Amino acid sequence: MAKQEDLFKNVVSHAKEYGFIFPSSEVYDGLSAVYDYAQNGVELKKNIREYWWKSMVQMNDNIVGLDAAILMHPTTWKASGHVDAFNDPLIDNKDSKKRYRADVLVEDFAEKIHQKAQKEIDKAKARFGDAFNEQEFITTNARVVEYLAKEKEIRERLGRSLGAGDLEDVKALIEELEIADPETGSRNWTDVKQFNLMFGTKLGASAENAMDLYLRPETAQGIFVNFLNVQKSGRMKVPFGIAQTGKAFRNEIVARQFIFRMREFEQMEMQFFVRPGEEMQWYEHWKTTRLNWHLSLGLGKENYRFHDHEKLAHYANAAADIEFNFPFGFKELEGIHSRTDFDLKAHEQYSGRKLQYFDPELNENYVPYVVETSVGLDRMFLAVFATSLQEETLEDGSTRTVLKLPAVLAPTKATVLPLVKKDGLPEVAKKIIEDLKWDFNVAYDEKDAVGRRYRRADALGTPFCITVDHQTLEDQTVTIRHRDTMKQDRVAIADLKAIIENEVSMKNWLMKM
Ligand code: GAP
Repeated sequence: MAKQEDLFKNVVSHAKEYGFIFPSSEVYDGLSAVYDYAQNGVELKKNIREYWWKSMVQMNDNIVGLDAAILMHPTTWKASGHVDAFNDPLIDNKDSKKRYRADVLVEDFAEKIHQKAQKEIDKAKARFGDAFNEQEFITTNARVVEYLAKEKEIRERLGRSLGAGDLEDVKALIEELEIADPETGSRNWTDVKQFNLMFGTKLGASAENAMDLYLRPETAQGIFVNFLNVQKSGRMKVPFGIAQTGKAFRNEIVARQFIFRMREFEQMEMQFFVRPGEEMQWYEHWKTTRLNWHLSLGLGKENYRFHDHEKLAHYANAAADIEFNFPFGFKELEGIHSRTDFDLKAHEQYSGRKLQYFDPELNENYVPYVVETSVGLDRMFLAVFATSLQEETLEDGSTRTVLKLPAVLAPTKATVLPLVKKDGLPEVAKKIIEDLKWDFNVAYDEKDAVGRRYRRADALGTPFCITVDHQTLEDQTVTIRHRDTMKQDRVAIADLKAIIENEVSMKNWLMKM
């Protein structure tokens, strides 16, 4: 655990030191669970967004984009169920006065049991090597069977009690499992209470006439209320999708773990409108497609798993999370939800307008069913950043810190370095930059010894360093150093564009899906 905590602290400090993420309004000591993306962070975030947009919108001729406003008519949130049901179950510790999400306390407990089972599995795997049959071990090893059964029982009971709104049973579960305040160890708990997560604001010049609004807690509703506008103006045929990226706001009470749980964050959501009755096949399709998108980034198959929901949200008939192995364990990265016709029907009811589709093949009108994919951009950032940050021991015994970002997402694709700050080398380096910057984000670095400049580029996740030396003046060649292997090749300046393009082009990465 201590090791995991150290790793996580490292992630946070590296993000700050190298200009990826700063605490918001830090000169005033920051604002809890709100962060600013700095010069390198904004590029990485933009690249992740673009990687998602390309795969969802550009590569699917039946999915189009949208950028709906953050402020929406307040009835939207009544219809969507957020006014009445967008709550978190909270519990206070009477001794420490700390507040926690009751469901998270239980889930973390269940995850610890899962980790114990995983430890036994890993030990056996190391002992038996190639002869190890994981499936057989999981079903026959008494200890593992017991751990996994206990985990399942806890998760199912939590799902049942939350689904039934039985907060007394959630508290009973916390007490039965003897869950203690993670910070103080106290087990002196209050009852569990519900707390609405929406941020309120006002529209209007004078206090008397002001209209109460909410900052949107999800981008999805902007898509639902525009469903018919897009369908008609784009002459879209079911099945079709509408995709959107944008800010969402939640008054998270227990906002910890850096950018994992923020009060202002960005979502990348897609609502896919289908014929009633066909939603389950599309739900499975999108589960597979979205997992493949994640896997295409090469962060390791073992870092992902599905978690099918026991407790379904008020709008869903099936739901699963793609969980990622963050530095603090497996947690939700993306949600895939079969939302039925709940949202469109609710907006029909509250607005008095029809939100139906005429299906020419069936010759009938219906309210489409919806399958949603929803991934947090900031969580994607954290998954990519934390997994890429590595300490390596080199052959000579020295160490290096390297951010092995997927090259397609790296903020800067290449740093160009003159070997020395004289003899015309800086001029040649700058000329190379002038040529490459039409296609890529490139940087110039002439300060310090070349070795230190390489290390700096490694820590920023820059896939290539291009060094201009005296030979360059004679034959128009440079050395190109690869971040991950540290291998150096001598190549012609004229070939640089193609070499970089080959490694960083979205096409090449997305084709791995
Ligand atoms: N429209 C469906 C929806 O909003 P959700 O599971 O509440 O579903 C979707 O959120 C995704 O948004 C999550 O999987 C997560 O990646 C991200 N997300 C949710 N709350 C967040 C928060 N407070 N901070 C950062 N990301 C968050």
